[in-house]
Amino acid sequence: MTLRAWRGDITALAVDAVVNAANSSLLGGGGVDGAIHRAAGPQLREYCSKLGGCAVGEARLSPGFGLPARYIIHTVGPIWRGGAQGEPEQLAACYRNSLALAEQHQLQSLAFPAISCGIYGYPLEAAARIAVSELRSGLGAAAHVREVLLVGFSAEQDELYRRLLDA
Ligand code: APR
Repeated sequence: MTLRAWRGDITALAVDAVVNAANSSLLGGGGVDGAIHRAAGPQLREYCSKLGGCAVGEARLSPGFGLPARYIIHTVGPIWRGGAQGEPEQLAACYRNSLALAEQHQLQSLAFPAISCGIYGYPLEAAARIAVSELRSGLGAAAHVREVLLVGFSAEQDELYRRLLDA
């Protein structure tokens, strides 16, 4: 599995699955969740309304509908509360469970936004370190997953991912 940084709008990626930084209702919101729902179209909310929500750290699969991506993996990141309320473990679970769900469906390419680093307030560098280490350690088990993109929406995010991946 190759793990690399890609800068831009995740809704433009024609990968097998884009990961959505959702909330527990799965009914859409702002940030990347809003962008994905806008691009996927109203069928996405209709589909997700039947999934019964998603707990923090868990992941759910939906079709990509109007997106170029075939599927969307919805995961719910932790809200940052200072780091002593289990947030690092919950964020790691988002990456681990999203990768496991992709592998379960034999998907080959996957793209992650910086989960929890926007509205949920997670410090970017700490979150990026968790993303890289969790995905690297998942490398062996996810035999079908060949490419994982860490999507930086800003130059800062992209440069950070590149620095961590070169380390
Ligand atoms: N493509 C890639 N990354 C994006 C895009 C996009 N189109 N739009 C935003 N991002 C980045 C943000 O810059 C941030 O680094 O996604 C990261 C995650 O930020 P949020 O979308 O705010 O998600 P999060 O911090 O996990 O908060 C989730 O926000 O949108 C609501 O419904 C969502 O309640 C949930 C909460």
